[in-house]
Amino acid sequence: MTGPTDATAPARCRVCGDTVDEFLDLGRQPLSDRFLTPADTDGEFFYRLAVGRCHACGMVQLTEEVPRHLMFHEEYPYHSSGSSVMREHFAKVAQRLLATELTGADPFVVEIGCNDGIMLRAVHEAGVRHLGFEPSAGVAEVARSRGVRVRTEFFEKATATAVRESEGPADVIYAANTMCHIPYLESVFQGADALLGPDGVVVFEDPYLGDIVAKTSFDQIYDEHFYLFSAGSVAAMAERFGFELVDVERLPVHGGEVRYTLARRGARTPTEAVGRLLAEEREQGLDDLATLRTFAANVHTVRDELVALLTRLRAEGHRVVGYGATAKSATVTNFCGIGPDLVSFVCDTTPGKQHRLTPGKHLPVRPAEAFADPYPDYALLFAWNHADEIMAKEQEFRQAGGRWILYVPEVRVL
Ligand code: SAM
Ligand code: TMP
Ligand code: ZN
Repeated sequence: MTGPTDATAPARCRVCGDTVDEFLDLGRQPLSDRFLTPADTDGEFFYRLAVGRCHACGMVQLTEEVPRHLMFHEEYPYHSSGSSVMREHFAKVAQRLLATELTGADPFVVEIGCNDGIMLRAVHEAGVRHLGFEPSAGVAEVARSRGVRVRTEFFEKATATAVRESEGPADVIYAANTMCHIPYLESVFQGADALLGPDGVVVFEDPYLGDIVAKTSFDQIYDEHFYLFSAGSVAAMAERFGFELVDVERLPVHGGEVRYTLARRGARTPTEAVGRLLAEEREQGLDDLATLRTFAANVHTVRDELVALLTRLRAEGHRVVGYGATAKSATVTNFCGIGPDLVSFVCDTTPGKQHRLTPGKHLPVRPAEAFADPYPDYALLFAWNHADEIMAKEQEFRQAGGRWILYVPEVRVL
């Protein structure tokens, strides 16, 4: 753990070095994607999960950094292709990049965090030059089996520079749900500077602070999500690193994201969407610490209501199971104190999570089929960001009298 050595010293911004004002403490938390065998439960790694806002550049970030090798490794269990909605989303991303930025004589796209190849497989199928950086060897191997070229490495200054030397300039550097995972962004942008051609763009999409605040989706905060980006903080960061925010697009996936497009400073004219989103953020008070403190108070209300509901259901003798052993659910279960006494198990389609225990609270994870065997009275939807997809395929649960419990944007039973 590389948090402040003096517990009383304020954290320092990982982008600009100024003071970070903490506004929410989510307590002692485990690694969100480390699903345990019963033998692993001794000596589990914990750190303090707290989030703050940089006084100078406005970047919202964690105050402690978990070493990257503890999170991203051979057994990283998250496989992007587990959701049909996300498969469709990334097929469209590939088509869009191919039609807009990758139209030159021999275009070249680099993806940071290509995971199992969910996006790059379509680029490969189109015969376009590409390269994925994916340090988690297990998922990188799946991408390779789909024909995707992958370096099992972290993208940073040295590795990006090596690619520029061996393969020439890139037209696009793309990242989804990965840029916000990388505390060392200065090195990433030095790498982008080395690798990108003069008119190249960095395009990345990540959970949006504006949605997190509006929906009180505090479970978007966990070890891997080091930053919670907004247009304001990304624009300031881009400028600091020699780039410029030239486009933004709101996306419905993963509970609300923004896709940011950065070009070299002065290379492209920013679209009107940038100015519009910056104005919306000022209106929402997203650049104001008071708004973030109100968000923190709302998080405590959600916790109290969820715990009260689960406690009442247990007292009434109802059976509750969790649906989707998401990384997000580590924050919810550990912050709220939800153990197997309140939620008997969590079902999930990911083989690497099944027959293991969830981080910290040790709820058993069972295969998806366990959900209907027999149906529980209530299902706590940890994978709320996939609600449409899941509720569409689980209609029988509702027809059999089962009820969904949601806690985003507020605690409710459906
Ligand atoms: N892009 C996929 C998606 O949107 O579903 C995967 C997202 S997954 C949450 C984040 C991925 O980033 C992991 O597969 C992790 O191994 C990878 N990653 C973390 N740090 C990285 C870095 N510095 N360079 C490249 N990949 C990184
Ligand atoms: P995510 O919210 O980080 O994408 O994680 C979603 C988790 O939920 C992942 O472990 C896969 C699981 N899942 C299911 O079990 N069933 C489903 O239908 C979907 C879409 C996801
Ligand atoms: Zn800062």
